[in-house]
Amino acid sequence: MLLIRGGRVIDTEKREEKQADVVIKDGRILGIGDFTDDGSYEQVIEARGWVVAPGLVDVHVHFRDPGLTYKEDIHTGAAAAAAGGFTTVVCMANTKPVVDNREILEYVMEEGKKTGIHVLAAAAVSLGMKGRELTDMEGLKAAGACGFTDDGIPLMDGELLRQAFEQAAVLEVPVSLHEEDPGFIRQNGIHHGKAAEQMGLYGSPAVAEDSLVARDCMIALHTGAKVNIQHISSRGGLEAVRLAKKMGAKVTAEVTPHHFTLTEDAVLQYGTLAKMNPPLRTEEDRQALIRGLQDGTIDMIATDHAPHSREEKSRGFTEAPSGIIGLETSLALGVTQLVDKGYLTMAELMAKMSLNPARLYGLECGRMAEGAVADLVIFDPEESFTVETFHSKADNSPFRGWNLKGKVHYTICGGNVVYRSSCG
Ligand code: DOR
Ligand code: ZN
Repeated sequence: MLLIRGGRVIDTEKREEKQADVVIKDGRILGIGDFTDDGSYEQVIEARGWVVAPGLVDVHVHFRDPGLTYKEDIHTGAAAAAAGGFTTVVCMANTKPVVDNREILEYVMEEGKKTGIHVLAAAAVSLGMKGRELTDMEGLKAAGACGFTDDGIPLMDGELLRQAFEQAAVLEVPVSLHEEDPGFIRQNGIHHGKAAEQMGLYGSPAVAEDSLVARDCMIALHTGAKVNIQHISSRGGLEAVRLAKKMGAKVTAEVTPHHFTLTEDAVLQYGTLAKMNPPLRTEEDRQALIRGLQDGTIDMIATDHAPHSREEKSRGFTEAPSGIIGLETSLALGVTQLVDKGYLTMAELMAKMSLNPARLYGLECGRMAEGAVADLVIFDPEESFTVETFHSKADNSPFRGWNLKGKVHYTICGGNVVYRSSCG
């Protein structure tokens, strides 16, 4: 048995918190309340002043395994996740080969089981992520795929997508979408705006995202499928989601910590470390995303943890790959940028990082209650740290050198401590 004493225990369902002790036994939460240390506990964690919340759930990570393991592998990715407070992650399908068949899916799931956290795998919507033919969605679901996505590559064939949604609705799994119509884009990874102009590039305009989000929200409405709009970055895209929700579509939206923290200006300062798809946009977009988090249009925070090697990111802006790592800075960016600045309460932030993403996949985690699975994160919301080193194989983060608040001390998965800070 494990006793966690006197922390700020977060109720993600009621969006409340209270000071209490938590007892964990056999992988579950045995009790939340007042418990005395009578010597019967194998471990006691003093958590006064610390937040005790459900383990974080990230519905959008790239662990690059199989095929691109010089960037990351399932084990280093999972270690980065645990260090960031995550107990469940959903791996995207853009590995090499793509997760479009049973064999690769099973490989990811089997490796994932060896990590100590829950590593779920989404399978591709289209064969080879080529956007032409659907995968065997029924077979892949039966083999364990938690959902479907061609993340990284937008699906341009609306009718193909409609068919995928029809199947996903029957199979009761979500389809997650990367929304950027390449027809509008001349250089991806950078917003078509003032920073791009300074760099002499055309970039990726917001209409590329807005128009595709609008189309797919309407296809979602017509099919009744559960559709998740990934890494939303534009005000127009957000408004399309808002309208679709109002009309009754089963649409959800994620935002990344980088999109609610940075703007297009970051490209001038951080170069390729601020290159990502969709790109960092304007301050007006960023403010709209924060309002979307506040009013519930944006349901969850997801990192789009996208490791790349130093060599790749040191290429010129147009040649370097898009994406940044995010698992080890996500919580602290949420605390520093959203809670400390008064945009969200701690309980609201925790719901967007655990309960809501868990619900997208019908997972039972994300709650702090008696009988619930003992997947937990324990962190000090007041303790600041400088972002320096990572458990990830990669270090492609613009936040290196930043001072952030919200230091993870313990990550507990199924009742086992899977991460402990060196000064925990
Ligand atoms: O910037 C990105 N990088 N966006 C994506 O959607 C994919 C990702 C990657 O796989 O590197
Ligand atoms: Zn992604």
